[in-house]
Amino acid sequence: MKRIAVLASGRGSNFQAVIDAVGAGSVPAVIVRLITDNPNAFAIERACNAGIPVTVVDFDRFPDRTAYEAALLEAMRECGADLFVLAGYMRILGARIVREFSGRMMNIHPALLPAFAGLHAQRQALEYGAKVSGCTVHLVDEGVDTGPIILQRCVPVLEDDDEETLADRILVEEHKALPEAVRLFCEGRLVVEGRRVRIR
Ligand code: GAR
Repeated sequence: MKRIAVLASGRGSNFQAVIDAVGAGSVPAVIVRLITDNPNAFAIERACNAGIPVTVVDFDRFPDRTAYEAALLEAMRECGADLFVLAGYMRILGARIVREFSGRMMNIHPALLPAFAGLHAQRQALEYGAKVSGCTVHLVDEGVDTGPIILQRCVPVLEDDDEETLADRILVEEHKALPEAVRLFCEGRLVVEGRRVRIR
């Protein structure tokens, strides 16, 4: 059994998808902790409902980014996780954290990377006029949404889509992609060769 910790900043529907997959027995893992930077995140309620311990590292309570990152690093070390899953964690992680947990941190992003990295990915896809979009689960490196891609799922962008309808369509796929990537990691089936992640 692998030990998973989840980092989330808000609603936590991707976190819930992982909770449900672990609960259903389809992922050989135990979720040991939720870490959040936001004391009002709905993800906290989801953790409590599932009996998962929560650590709040409230960004606003630290004098600067360095102090915040030090506290976050400490919280991450303490939970002794094999895998850290960024599920709607809306901050960029500092190089020190990325290096320490290299190869065992994954993120879900609501676009087909390398298109539309960063914030408001669904809006970016609409404004660009893309005809397909989707989601990407990738390993975290020191760039913004630049790490090796584990898997992607796509959706059409429809003529009358707005940001919300497109986000909702992508979210359905996120809820499949993230638990699937977590499962592959926990089964030891991901092999990273440079930028390419092979699935054994
Ligand atoms: C998801 O769409 C996720 O892909 C996105 O935030 C949303 C969180 O929803 N993440 C990013 O944009 C990261 N750059 P959730 O809290 O319901 O899982």
